[in-house]
Amino acid sequence: MPAEPEEIESRDPADILEQAAEFLRLYHAEDPEAGSIRPRLREVRDEIARTGTYTQTLDEVTFGARVAWRNSGRCIGRLYWKSLRVRDRRRVNTPEGVAVEAVEHLRGAATQGKIRPTITVFAPDRPGEPGPRIWNEQLIRYAGYREPDGSVVGDPRNTAITDLALAGGWKGGARTPFDVLPLMVSGGDGKPMLCEIPGDAVLEVPLTHPSYPWFADLGLRWHAVPVISNMRLEIGGVGYPCAPFNGWYMGSEIGARNLADEDRYNMLPVVAGRLGLDTSSDRSLWRDHALVELNVAVLHSFDRMGVTVTDHHTESRRFLTHLEREEKAGRVCPADWSWIVPPLSGSTTPVFHRYYDDVQLTPAFVHHPENYPTELVCPVLH
Ligand code: ARG
Repeated sequence: MPAEPEEIESRDPADILEQAAEFLRLYHAEDPEAGSIRPRLREVRDEIARTGTYTQTLDEVTFGARVAWRNSGRCIGRLYWKSLRVRDRRRVNTPEGVAVEAVEHLRGAATQGKIRPTITVFAPDRPGEPGPRIWNEQLIRYAGYREPDGSVVGDPRNTAITDLALAGGWKGGARTPFDVLPLMVSGGDGKPMLCEIPGDAVLEVPLTHPSYPWFADLGLRWHAVPVISNMRLEIGGVGYPCAPFNGWYMGSEIGARNLADEDRYNMLPVVAGRLGLDTSSDRSLWRDHALVELNVAVLHSFDRMGVTVTDHHTESRRFLTHLEREEKAGRVCPADWSWIVPPLSGSTTPVFHRYYDDVQLTPAFVHHPENYPTELVCPVLH
């Protein structure tokens, strides 16, 4: 796996200029409406010399964000990269402002169940003036409460941030397995604040199965919109540390990972039990059988509620269409086989039967190092 670009504390103006020039050449080469590159390059060079950074135009940010998605080698859903909606909130850098806009993002990204790929771009890092941060990995995540006996109520993936929120004064939710965590947001260099997400901004899908009425009694559900909020958007030498973005779900992310992995909700033994399968031997393939029914339930439930979702067969085909288009455009399409191949029925999808170029291109979404803040200020409630 290629190394991810490193976090840069303070950037060398010469590097910024070089990255800016490379980005502007890409943008002006791909978009005939971008106009002449010469005067823009001169402007950018002057601004970097004066201020140590430069301000991108809305068209540059829009193109940059879309290409960052196009360059995401782990994403199978890139066919629609050009349709990404960009919300320009670069003037917003306070925790309160970020929280309000994050909630607006959630409301706008799904109207009546129709999900639109959307990114909200907050203030960039500037010399001596870091941009804001959201510490949650997604805007909506379920708490994982550690119990005294070592078990976890909720999503075991989120125990660390749950501990932190509780230590910071969050009272916790109703202690169901699906309590939505508060947002943890900091502006620039300040301490993070906690902020509850209003219920009406959290679209969720209760899970039912088309043939097994008992399935509803398991009380499973999942949120409709995955909004990744802990990655930095890098465009042409400018870093946006807070730029939450969403697509729609592929059912298998929920049915074959979130609810199925042993270190997540671990539901396969429960589903297999209700199906009456022989769980005493691996060779009865009870896990495989239960996995399929769980995934049938996810797709059926989203469809029933009219919420956008895709399945891994459709999305695999679309991805190959995307690859073809990229090739025709004369571009390499970075792709990581281990992420592109779906977590169930891999070989029944066409993406399984080939290899890919896995290169790191920019613009890009890159991971922040995972160091949670140690101190929090008290919760702000909506
Ligand atoms: N796999 C993550 C989850 O289950 C979401 C990643 C982004 N997925 C997407 N369809 N855009 O929450």
